[in-house]
Amino acid sequence: MEFLDIPALHRASGTVRLPGSKSISNRVLLLAALAEGETEIRDLLDSDDTRVMLQALGKLGVELTPVGTHAWKVKGAAGRFATSEAELFLGNAGTAFRPLTAALALSGGTYRLSGVDRMHERPIRDLVDGLRQIGAAISYLGNDGYPPLQVNPGRIDLSGPIKVRGDVSSQFLTSLLMALPLTGRSTTVEMTTELISKPYVEITLNLMAHFGVQVERDGWSRFSLAANQRYSSPGVIHVEGDASSASYFLAAGAIGGGPVRVEGAGRKSIQGDVAFASALEKMGASIEMGDNWIEAQAPKSGRLSAIDLDLNHIPDAAMTLAVAALFADGPCTLRNIGSWRVKETDRIAAMAAELRKVGGVVEEGPDWLRISPPPAACLTPHASINTYDDHRMAMCLSLAALGGVPVRILDPICVSKTFPDYFLRFAEITAPVIAIDGPSASGKGTVAQRVAKALGYAYLDSGALYRLVALAAKQAGVSYEDANAVSLLATNLPAEFIFDRILLAGTDVTEAIRSEEMSSASSKVAALPSVRAALLSRQRAYRRWPGLVADGRDMGSVVFPQAETKVFLTASAEVRAERRYKQLISKGVAANITALLQDLRDRDQRDSSRSVAPLAKGADAHLLDTTELSIEQAVESVLGWDQQNTKDRR
Ligand code: DC
Repeated sequence: MEFLDIPALHRASGTVRLPGSKSISNRVLLLAALAEGETEIRDLLDSDDTRVMLQALGKLGVELTPVGTHAWKVKGAAGRFATSEAELFLGNAGTAFRPLTAALALSGGTYRLSGVDRMHERPIRDLVDGLRQIGAAISYLGNDGYPPLQVNPGRIDLSGPIKVRGDVSSQFLTSLLMALPLTGRSTTVEMTTELISKPYVEITLNLMAHFGVQVERDGWSRFSLAANQRYSSPGVIHVEGDASSASYFLAAGAIGGGPVRVEGAGRKSIQGDVAFASALEKMGASIEMGDNWIEAQAPKSGRLSAIDLDLNHIPDAAMTLAVAALFADGPCTLRNIGSWRVKETDRIAAMAAELRKVGGVVEEGPDWLRISPPPAACLTPHASINTYDDHRMAMCLSLAALGGVPVRILDPICVSKTFPDYFLRFAEITAPVIAIDGPSASGKGTVAQRVAKALGYAYLDSGALYRLVALAAKQAGVSYEDANAVSLLATNLPAEFIFDRILLAGTDVTEAIRSEEMSSASSKVAALPSVRAALLSRQRAYRRWPGLVADGRDMGSVVFPQAETKVFLTASAEVRAERRYKQLISKGVAANITALLQDLRDRDQRDSSRSVAPLAKGADAHLLDTTELSIEQAVESVLGWDQQNTKDRR
């Protein structure tokens, strides 16, 4: 895909489950590979950078076994890789390149490490100098001070302290610290400069401790390891959600109203980037935090406030603030961000150039950036954003669309470095939703489909999902009342919607789920709370650009509570029975209107008296009684309300 067009967006709200943290994933993979024993890593990030690390470890002879989705078993090499000669290609993954360089330099083998062109422009001298001091044999194969590298067996001598700079990248210190236990000797690392990005070193120390190795730290200038410390597997380890990735959604909540909640990282996180939430709070956003979640909302006043902050501690998430600055009430200054210049691209230059395209007024210094919002706070529509093969540029600039302007993201695939389905998740919190709820046979399905067609929106028939669950239960011989068994079926429902056909496990069941038996069975399975919970995220995943029309019983109340437009569509039971009767007769199905009416009343009763998400008109929903209306009139009413809401939002 050469580009992705994001439509003008006006609101952001919803919940996002974060992918695993890149920083934790790659550290844990290496530590598990070096440890004694087998480690099961759960919730590992699945992205380019972790794939690069997995491939490299595989080449080094580490036994890696996938277990389910996002989980791996790693058989630790107990400090010595089985393969003593290898050529490793590490893409543009700094979190793989630097730590592997150090670990291999101390492991007595012969290795060659290379990456993409940009990796060969990213400095590594400080790490190589540190390793050479203790006798590692590393040489530059291209430009002095940069990858690619040749690593040969060295004569490791740890008699003196290792002196290393910390002002270009904290990954050099991280890499040394993670590799040093391989020597089994006591060592000290001394910083010769100020250390940047300290929270990343904290992640390192935290994870090393998890694998049984303690590092004594004297402030941020001296790090000591006692002799004979070895990594040992903690058994099972969970990877937290990525706090840097969280920044895009939290900023979206702060810019686009909110609330937006991210799940997977929170107060208990070991990642420094959760501090992004505090920076956003300084811009006036309201932030709430739990142990494992963070939620952001726009300031009560509406507009974000200008900031002037030192952001050395959160270099990655700070990029997100640069885009949030477009929505501030004055110039924002981001300071002490010099490390941006040696990341995936020169991020200071790249950010300045792309923010200007959307109307930002930007001044740039060697290690700072000042962004003023566009005059009259109007962003420039239809900007074509270059992404420089930098995932964070793509994710950051997508937020500009929340200024109510369409934005084109070039080479959107670059997000796969850390977040392959970023745009799907972003659409799930930003696409407008029209929720149409109402009782059985009220005609809401027909109205919803026509509204979707008129607006070019996607359509979700949530009732079909409950009908599919009922059919799956019938096929499996499971009782409709057996909550555990039915919700298991709902969780793994092999359903597909292809144009106007509905498939269950590859079989077309479009007509089969509409039978009277399935109508009644679906309202029974829909009364089970665990079934409703199992279908929740599946329904939310239908939210996509340019918008979604969803019909059901709880679209406006539970599934999309922040829907732009909510409609409660109903008609008298008699008229609904009559409509259903005519529908069946036209299909050549024999029907009895009295029985249909009784059945409808029974279903209404079940749907509106159940304990969870009972059918009811919400206070914020428009009432549309279609007893005396044609379909066209009903469609016109919904479109009219939606248009009015859209206007009010702007
Ligand atoms: O809309 P429908 O008749 O196809 O729905 C079938 C059943 O599913 C209905 O009896 C109630 C249930 N349902 C629900 O509980 N919540 C929804 N959002 C949609 C349908």
